[in-house]
Amino acid sequence: TRTPVTVTVTGAAGQIGYALLFRIASGQLLGADVPVKLRLLEIPQGLKAAEGTAMELDDCAFPLLQGIDISDDPNVGFDGANVALLVGARPRTKGMERGDLLEANGGIFKPQGKAINDHAADDIKVLVVGNPANTNALIAQAAAPDVPAERFTAMTRLDHNRALSQLSKKTGAPVSEIKKLTIWGNHSATQYPDVFHAEVAGKNAAEVVNDEQWLADTFIPTVAKRGAAIIEARGASSAASAANAAIDHVHTWVNGTDADNWTSAGVVSDGSYGVPEGLISSFPVTAANGKFEIVQGLDVNEFSRTRIDASVKELEEEREAVRGLGLI
Ligand code: NAI
Repeated sequence: TRTPVTVTVTGAAGQIGYALLFRIASGQLLGADVPVKLRLLEIPQGLKAAEGTAMELDDCAFPLLQGIDISDDPNVGFDGANVALLVGARPRTKGMERGDLLEANGGIFKPQGKAINDHAADDIKVLVVGNPANTNALIAQAAAPDVPAERFTAMTRLDHNRALSQLSKKTGAPVSEIKKLTIWGNHSATQYPDVFHAEVAGKNAAEVVNDEQWLADTFIPTVAKRGAAIIEARGASSAASAANAAIDHVHTWVNGTDADNWTSAGVVSDGSYGVPEGLISSFPVTAANGKFEIVQGLDVNEFSRTRIDASVKELEEEREAVRGLGLI
């Protein structure tokens, strides 16, 4: 029998947590033969609801679930963690400036990064979902100098999946026939979903679409503003689709990408494509042997260059802001 993998979920009592935990416990995160131990990390006000979720997890009698611990102490929550899903974050409230938002989240992600540094397992893999995801990941990573920087990632897989779905609707090809899409930059409205290297049933996607105006005026804004459209329609932000993307991200990280495909993830830049080193930016990535690699050598046309640069500029500004606040 395999040793269980310890998975820590922060914000476990929130709506993404509720959509995520049952799928982890059922084996969809790591595989149907991998036992898991869950650690639910919450703030004190969230502990009671987390206990309720844990009762429901018990009531599913998942064969793979070997234990559930609940804590409001990051040092306990991340102890021995192999995978950490950092979902809990401080949302932007009315009248809050960007600096206030970054500062409030720094107060969450800096101590969590330190707790990961001091207590997580040597093979820890971190996915930051809580917004602003890229910069929260950067803050946590900077607070964990003993953990290889590449273990800290930010989620743009939901954006990637949204782009797949929109391109599928436009071309009529099933999502399984669409490959090599890329989300570049920040998980924010400046993100750039790029179809120029994508393939639709083996043909170049930009050529199949053959409509640059649709790309500029419909596709890109639909993907980038989808989160707001969901809030408008549902009266609450994306939860099941966000949880699904988190599952996809970690599953790909652990199990790898197909040979003829890649995906998108926020990973530490090595300077590729003019993205300053050290920023956590979304790139086209492959995964193998538990490691993401940035896809190299793609031509970036003018249309793409302007949009990548704009999103990366925003990431640099966020990095400057958290530097100024002493968070990194
Ligand atoms: P929610 O408000 O329903 O739940 C958040 C939970 O986090 C709450 O239970 C809260 O008590 C907990 N929490 C707050 N601070 C914490 C801390 N320091 N430690 C542990 N837990 C803490 O929010 P929801 O809908 O689950 O979303 C969570 C985050 O995910 C938000 O920041 C949201 O913007 C982000 N998000 C990111 C997406 C992406 O694509 N990267 C997509 C959708 C949401």
